[in-house]
Amino acid sequence: MNLTLKVWRQSNANTAGRFETYEAKDILPDMSFLEMLDVVNEGLIERSEEPIAFDSDCREGICGMCSLVINGIPHGGHRGTATCQLHMRHFTDGETITIEPWRAKAFPLLKDLVVNRSAFDRIIQSGGFVSVNTGGTPDGNAIPVPKTDSDLAMDAAACIGCGACVAACKNASAMLFVAAKVSHLNLLPQGKAEKDRRALNMVKQMDEEGFGNCTVTGSCEAVCPKEISLSFIAKLNRDYAVATIKGK
Ligand code: SF4
Ligand code: FES
Repeated sequence: MNLTLKVWRQSNANTAGRFETYEAKDILPDMSFLEMLDVVNEGLIERSEEPIAFDSDCREGICGMCSLVINGIPHGGHRGTATCQLHMRHFTDGETITIEPWRAKAFPLLKDLVVNRSAFDRIIQSGGFVSVNTGGTPDGNAIPVPKTDSDLAMDAAACIGCGACVAACKNASAMLFVAAKVSHLNLLPQGKAEKDRRALNMVKQMDEEGFGNCTVTGSCEAVCPKEISLSFIAKLNRDYAVATIKGK
């Protein structure tokens, strides 16, 4: 496949960015999107040009590092698929592909396609943990957890913290991420002791980081590579309301 790429290039947050056009030649349909970018970067390095900066780590949909807006959609618009799992066979020979970074005030740009997502780390630090000492691995069934709760907690725990939900949202809201992280722990017996404090603190930190409000457009769920359900936002709203009332 031969493709034309329009890639956002920007040296740092203080300089203006622009789209640069590159040709991606002899790309195999079974390459991942990131492997295609590796090929383009090898060509740039051979010509002594600056390679395109982009984030990646596991390249198997686990770590949440890959973060590209492809043709206007975070992760490229294939349901349940992170950028690193997106294959070039989904594109057509001769196509022009636009590649941009996540764009949100709370994710300041570092370089080219790389943004700083440490706002998510600070939200986790504000409450995304269990602070009781749970000791060693307990015997199976020592702490009974209803099957529906364990299934829901596992669904929420699938969030890889990529930030696509923020990038897709017209308000740059982080509600889907926060809802997943709060719900994952609030649903389990080990997490219930800090349930109220967790909901209040993580929402407070989310607001302080500059993420926007949720208006339930559903764009977050549509692009989420782990298909985190909007229903977790409803659950977070309930947990937050209960915690607020108890606090008063
Ligand atoms: S909710 Fe989905 S899109 Fe948002 S950070 Fe988690 S995995 Fe990424
Ligand atoms: S590189 Fe780890 S999820 Fe994509």
